[in-house]
Amino acid sequence: MTLAERVAEVEWYHSIDLPGGVTTPGWFDTRRVIDRVPLPPTLAGLRCLDVGTWDGFWAFELERRGAAGVAAVDIDDPERWDWPAAARGSIDVEVLRAVKSANRGFAIAHEALGSKVERLDRSVYELDPETVGGFDLVFVGSLLLHLRDPVGALERVRSVCTGHVVVADAVEAIPSLLRPRTPLARLEGRGRPWWWQPNRAGLIRLVESAGFEVVTATGLYFEPTGPGHPKGSLTPRRLLSAAGREELITGLVGVPHVAVLAR
Ligand SMILES: C[S@@+](CC[C@H](N)C(=O)[O-])C[C@H]1O[C@@H](n2cnc3c(N)ncnc32)[C@H](O)[C@@H]1O
Repeated sequence: MTLAERVAEVEWYHSIDLPGGVTTPGWFDTRRVIDRVPLPPTLAGLRCLDVGTWDGFWAFELERRGAAGVAAVDIDDPERWDWPAAARGSIDVEVLRAVKSANRGFAIAHEALGSKVERLDRSVYELDPETVGGFDLVFVGSLLLHLRDPVGALERVRSVCTGHVVVADAVEAIPSLLRPRTPLARLEGRGRPWWWQPNRAGLIRLVESAGFEVVTATGLYFEPTGPGHPKGSLTPRRLLSAAGREELITGLVGVPHVAVLAR
């Protein structure tokens, strides 16, 4: 089976360039925001960690920048994500399980790129310096939104972070623009594993609350969807809800993000 055929058999979260001109058809095209994220251009000699790696786009990018070693953690079974109680065991878990397909995407990309990234089935809440050691740079991408306890998770990240952390996460665009100095978060917590949706100041405060010192934070940027992104079913009624408006913005320009570099 060719690489293109193997890629076609899997649902991809990330658009990843593989050898031979093959690009995975991701839900999101993170290639287009790579320059917005304050990652050091070279990571030579550094031990790095990617938290919530999915298909591994950011872990492979850390490796491409010359990291001495890269580990990546994720949860293989979406059942173990932080689901709101009423949504646990719902059809969405089965859908996500099929989409994640036991991380076949990561395995295919890993092999095709000849990568040495070490992937562990581990929750961010389980990060422990006794078992995984320390990392000079930790990348946390689009994860906090899915966590019931983002500050607790960032505290676990801090426990294994000996240098810098880059937190690049989803934020709410309008409260970021209207309340730039006030840390805010909208709580969803029903139906799907979507929890706290902060504004830009709120994301910065989450990072500070976990004990990090913020070095810099970007302005808003939009993480664009890729060719594999599920097509929504927007109705005028759904547009009246925050989730409907979020779906519209995602389809038009992508998911609003801010990236925070801290130590
Ligand atoms: C929205 S994706 C983000 C993928 C990637 N980090 C990025 O920035 O493009 C969220 C990822 O976090 C993972 N995840 C969810 N809960 C987690 C947890 N408690 N610990 C570690 N990873 C988790 C999911 O399995 C999924 O791969």
